[in-house]
Amino acid sequence: MEFEKVSEYIHELYKNKPFLSQHNYTSGMELQDYTPTVDDEAAAYLRLILKITQPKRILEIGTSVGFSTASMASVAKTYGGHITTIEFDEKVADQAEKNFLKAGLTAYITVKRGDAREILHDLTEPYDLIFQDVDKRLYPVLLNDCIRLLNKGGILLSDDALFPVFDMEEEWGHLVEPIRQYNEIVMKHPQLDSVLLPIGDGIMMSAKL
Ligand SMILES: C[S@@+](CC[C@H](N)C(=O)[O-])C[C@H]1O[C@@H](n2cnc3c(N)ncnc32)[C@H](O)[C@@H]1O
Repeated sequence: MEFEKVSEYIHELYKNKPFLSQHNYTSGMELQDYTPTVDDEAAAYLRLILKITQPKRILEIGTSVGFSTASMASVAKTYGGHITTIEFDEKVADQAEKNFLKAGLTAYITVKRGDAREILHDLTEPYDLIFQDVDKRLYPVLLNDCIRLLNKGGILLSDDALFPVFDMEEEWGHLVEPIRQYNEIVMKHPQLDSVLLPIGDGIMMSAKL
């Protein structure tokens, strides 16, 4: 089975699905220089997981311009969920907040500005779902705080889990080893039950036991 063929087929199928696409969300933005967001397939998966599990308290680590945040918020608003999202780059956080306002989603999102390491360390209230999408080198560093902050039965979704098998451009190469290490730790972790889903750039889905 060729992964590219699988991806093409899936994208073709999604074409007629009505949803907020990454292209539509980012076109017309003032800011052009930002870290890439999840793709449409991963966003569709995030929306579906929220529809099924209806987590009230959601934490996202790594906002960028807020495409994944807005995708989740478009569902969270239908059942009373709220998303807290963390970003340390002021320029992208400003753009994300403009995007949320334009999409009518501001009421369902709290943007926390600062370093995720410090913010996570200071958080105490538990979450039902955490979406990990920060600097990949921080995934292993932040894992203990993510587990501490998850309710029992809570879901941890970690993006870019398939980096170790992708042909990465040189500028992203340094992100492969932290993900490889993270995937191995997560799979063996006694407090987590995990599967790696080949959706988007790979989503590691874990439940806290
Ligand atoms: C991959 S992007 C997030 C994409 C977003 N989740 C989406 O799909 O729309 C990762 C973001 O994490 C931010 N980031 C990186 N290291 C951080 C840190 N230590 N604390 C807070 N944010 C950080 C980057 O500035 C970047 O905007």
